[in-house]
Amino acid sequence: MNENQRLEGQQVQTENSSDKKSSKDYSKYFETVYTAPSLKDAKKRGKEEVKYHKDFDIPEEFLGMGEGRKFYIRTYGCQMNEHDTEVMAGIFLGLGYEPTDSVEDANVILLNTCAIRENAENKVFGELGHLKHLKREKPDLLLGVCGCMSQEESVVNKILKTYNQVDMIFGTHNIHRLPNILQEAYMSKEMVVEVWSKEGDVIENLPKVRRGNIKAWVNIMYGCDKFCTYCIVPYTRGKERSRRPEDIIQEVRQLAAHGYQEITLLGQNVNAYGKDFTDFEYGLGDLMDEMRKIDIPRVRFTTSHPRDFDDHLIEVLAKGGNLMDHIHLPVQSGSTDVLKIMARKYTREQYLELVRKIKAAIPNVTLTTDIIVGYPNETDEQFEETLSLVREVGYESAYTFIYSPREGTPAAKMQDNVPMEVKKERLQRLNALVNEQSAQSMKKYQDQIVEVLVEGESKNNPDVLAGYTSKMKLVNFVGPKSAIGKIVKVKITNAKTWSLNGEMVEENEPVEVK
Ligand code: SAH
Ligand code: SF4
Ligand code: F3S
Repeated sequence: MNENQRLEGQQVQTENSSDKKSSKDYSKYFETVYTAPSLKDAKKRGKEEVKYHKDFDIPEEFLGMGEGRKFYIRTYGCQMNEHDTEVMAGIFLGLGYEPTDSVEDANVILLNTCAIRENAENKVFGELGHLKHLKREKPDLLLGVCGCMSQEESVVNKILKTYNQVDMIFGTHNIHRLPNILQEAYMSKEMVVEVWSKEGDVIENLPKVRRGNIKAWVNIMYGCDKFCTYCIVPYTRGKERSRRPEDIIQEVRQLAAHGYQEITLLGQNVNAYGKDFTDFEYGLGDLMDEMRKIDIPRVRFTTSHPRDFDDHLIEVLAKGGNLMDHIHLPVQSGSTDVLKIMARKYTREQYLELVRKIKAAIPNVTLTTDIIVGYPNETDEQFEETLSLVREVGYESAYTFIYSPREGTPAAKMQDNVPMEVKKERLQRLNALVNEQSAQSMKKYQDQIVEVLVEGESKNNPDVLAGYTSKMKLVNFVGPKSAIGKIVKVKITNAKTWSLNGEMVEENEPVEVK
């Protein structure tokens, strides 16, 4: 962290503290640190240039803070949050803490939260309730809430009022401040709240403890400027900021050198990668072209916004090699009218045209998607258009959701005439169709040979190994433990709706891979 950031943090803190005095007075809750989130500020998109900090060091005064202490982090939400957890775990280790997988054993517990739908938030409030007894039994335990929920004013206020077992709340923009926040929490009897509404700079070389040594996530950009009318992410993650290509390439090269087999490039809308660079023209297509040259077997990216999916990217993906033939392309709805009020900025026809182009360039491509049903005032006809689009594209799987109003978003203010019963019925019909298409797509693998990146033992049966194909099909198969971490050939013996069963093929057997 540089001095500017430190100053910026303090300024916000003072402003917010005095603001609060004129509205609600929470001052008794935060004698030490109080930097509150504001949705209004989070919505702003300033023109100021993003600053890049190439180095991060844990300040010397905090080293050793974790001696004899253990940390536990529970993660909710998307891969971005999972990856943030890897960074926080890296900082904990740097401070001398040890990891534990038991909450009872931990001296610090963090809940890294997700705000995308109401039920994601309810899980966290439920968990805070469960953890209350631990605080009573172990008064020196620190309990923290971080991640996307912390960026919401209403959540912070609710925690301040009703969950006094919480010791610290911090957000998505200041995880690098974890050492300072922990220190404050140890020193203070009050709840420490440090949430920045304005995104911070891009900080490179944060420490990380990756989950496993086979697959890795690599952030390529932060934030989202799309402001789809239902979505909280642009408020919780700030404006779009791309990492410099040289930093990404270096990180992926290092992962390859360490033997990683697969990397997934992460961003809320990876297709907007590079659009914020003011000094040169560079996009996701250019970055993927660089990825092809790196000696790592598999490269993926998620998530794509259809609007920014350009021809150059399609052209590069069509070159194949280590670029996987699976694209997750969230559509949200098959109705142009619904897409319009969602502010997705494409029509049904434009989406289908993009799919046509992708299929023409990559004939073997697998497409998957995200869909929201029961958007405010969605009609039966509009829902039918979603079903027909699912058939037309031929998605092999989909994440499907009932619309959940998010406070502060434009859609949350809309009147909604669709009863919950109808929404549930639509979700069931959609899921039935998606299941049918998934089962259909699996059938073609019966008796075929596929290549599987073996991740480990199957969750349900330690005698069976599990891994994924290039198209993200889960394969459970019989094979030697020495196959873990490698890409092996598996013959499919039983194709089910969501997974494939098979047997490993001997290494020197000549086979044709599907
Ligand atoms: N950046 C990603 C989306 C991340 S959120 C993208 O644009 O593809 C993952 C999915 O959650 C979204 O694609 C959407 O289908 C769903 N989602 C987001 N907000 C939602 C809400 N308010 N209610 C229900 N589903 C929502
Ligand atoms: Fe949310 Fe839309 Fe941004 Fe995805 S692109 S994170 S759905 S606002
Ligand atoms: Fe959830 Fe935040 Fe990801 S809201 S989906 S954890 S970006």
